[in-house]
Amino acid sequence: MSVKDLLIPDRLPRHVAVIMDGNGRWAKQRGTARVFGHKNGVKAVREVTEAAAELGIEFLTLYAFSTENWNRPKNEVDALMSLLVSTIASEAKTLMKNNVQLKTIGCRESLPLKVQEKLTSCMEKTAGNTGLTLVLALSYSSRWEITKGVQKIAEDVKKGLLNVSDIDGQVFSRYLETCNMPDPELLIRTSGEFRISNFLLWQIAYSELYFSSILWPDFRKEHFYEALIDFQKRERRFGKTSDQLILKK
Ligand code: FPP
Repeated sequence: MSVKDLLIPDRLPRHVAVIMDGNGRWAKQRGTARVFGHKNGVKAVREVTEAAAELGIEFLTLYAFSTENWNRPKNEVDALMSLLVSTIASEAKTLMKNNVQLKTIGCRESLPLKVQEKLTSCMEKTAGNTGLTLVLALSYSSRWEITKGVQKIAEDVKKGLLNVSDIDGQVFSRYLETCNMPDPELLIRTSGEFRISNFLLWQIAYSELYFSSILWPDFRKEHFYEALIDFQKRERRFGKTSDQLILKK
């Protein structure tokens, strides 16, 4: 019996978000440059995307490059951008084969033109796919997203398109990058770090958090299944009591 067989098919999350961490340490352990870790991280991206698509998960959001990552050494930023270009180009076919739609969240305009072009072309190509939506968070941070959302709300109020008294949680969500996406039920972070790092702060209000000690380049389908199995054991109370949940059953 494999780990996958332990999954309960009708209790899978609709949306899983992942903080892919540990590429640098993985490379350092091997005495190589950090970039080598990022390159090997692509294999893990492929595995998790394929696993999520096979299971019928609707959304997979990967934190690929944060707003703060622009502060890394120029050679690392350049290498990450080149890796994005080559990966999007080489994986487009596989995304089509697996019926995966590509989307992004984050400040796309701040990315190099070449990256923007590849993303646009891949998003257009996969727009009609109806399986998994793979969301790459690129030049993304939650505080940036929330601030931008507040600005857009203020503009709509000023234009008379929105009443201040109508602003509630649901309305606010529509002004975020993730509008039209359900909140992630599960957030995974690899590499043994216990932080959220400015990722989907609004959206993870009730997400289950799963921390894996595996460094991202070593993360495989089995590790993803283990996270899902752990998620399926959690009691999600949303502020209610256990007894209330039992009564509802
Ligand atoms: C964090 O590890 C990882 C990143 C900032 C980049 C993630 C990029 C990839 C997995 C490759 C390309 C992705 C796609 C979607 C094609 P770290 O560098 O912070 O590791 P460390 O904490 O060990 O230093």
